[in-house]
Amino acid sequence: MTEFKPLVFSGVQPTGNLHLGNYLGAIRKFVALQENNDCIYCVVDLHALTAQLVHEDMATQIRSITAAFLAAGIDPKKHIVFNQSQVPQHAELAWIFNCVARIGWMNRMTQFKDKAGKDREQASLGLYAYPSLMAADILVYRATHVPVGEDQKQHLELARDIAMKFNMDFNEKIRPTGLGIDIKVGEEPVHAYFPMVEPLIDGPAPRVMSLKDGTKKMSKSDPSDLSRINLMDDQDAISKKIRKAKTDPDALPGEVDGLKGRPEADNLVGIFAALADKSKADVLSEFGGQQFSVFKPALIDLAVEVLAPINAEMRRLMEDPGHIDAVLRDGGERARTRAEKTMNEVRDIIGFVR
Ligand code: TYM
Repeated sequence: MTEFKPLVFSGVQPTGNLHLGNYLGAIRKFVALQENNDCIYCVVDLHALTAQLVHEDMATQIRSITAAFLAAGIDPKKHIVFNQSQVPQHAELAWIFNCVARIGWMNRMTQFKDKAGKDREQASLGLYAYPSLMAADILVYRATHVPVGEDQKQHLELARDIAMKFNMDFNEKIRPTGLGIDIKVGEEPVHAYFPMVEPLIDGPAPRVMSLKDGTKKMSKSDPSDLSRINLMDDQDAISKKIRKAKTDPDALPGEVDGLKGRPEADNLVGIFAALADKSKADVLSEFGGQQFSVFKPALIDLAVEVLAPINAEMRRLMEDPGHIDAVLRDGGERARTRAEKTMNEVRDIIGFVR
């Protein structure tokens, strides 16, 4: 083997409503990547316990993320769609990674600091170890490419650090198995079992910002619903939220450079570009010199055109939970087979008796 087999993996948490940030930063990319790649997309329900333990509507939330995947165009027959808790190997590999990752590495995770807030002593151990489970999600399939929004970048760097430390520490045990590929770390030859995952963060909207404040990320937890477009919003809500979105008084610039220092304009142009599968430069060549009174109605039309069919299909799918559960069960079974193969190899590398 000279290279790891390309494999795309990504996950979305079943917590709160999906919004345009999740769609443009992640799900829309998942759909595009299916064309030329083997893909595994996961509803990460174990992650959902880290910030809040009891969820009254856990099953509905899991089904609703699955419905969004399917409605957006993910093909669960050609690829794999499942929920994490159906594949216990994720949690098993995460335990091993807890023993690989260093506390110093975890202490640098900014998302933990943000989510734990001031009362860090009261945060769950799961919230702290969360990035280690995320690394296991990816590496239990030895996936090579991970489409995510920019907020997940640091977690993917940690996944690379974990993979590298495992590869180095177990090198003498991996080498005789021939299960890895030969890479060089500096001058040192390493027979790597786990790949160095590549984050796929590119595109015009890697970080979709709040519609009310272009310096804050669009987020499920923002108290103002006007700050985000939810995938379940109807046409009227989408239209109202874009009309009320914060802007500045100037016309749109003709060049991308002109968006510097104009976070709200930059955000809306990025959203338009991502929805239209264009670059920001393309959008500005069309709308440069125009006022928001012209740009916003065009953005509303485009957003409705893209999101309304997804919204309608999600609603239709949610009426048949039995079908969604069958998709997850089928995906879970296929994922488990692959994950168990990796775990057997990992058990052998470590030296567990089986
Ligand atoms: P989650 O559930 O918070 O978000 C799902 C995806 O949406 C992206 N995203 C955004 N992208 C652009 N702009 C935004 N405002 C925005 N908000 C969210 C996120 O970057 C993510 O790609 N830890 C992950 C889930 C996870 C995972 C994994 C991802 C668990 N295991 C393994 C990849 C691989 C999370 O909480 O995403």
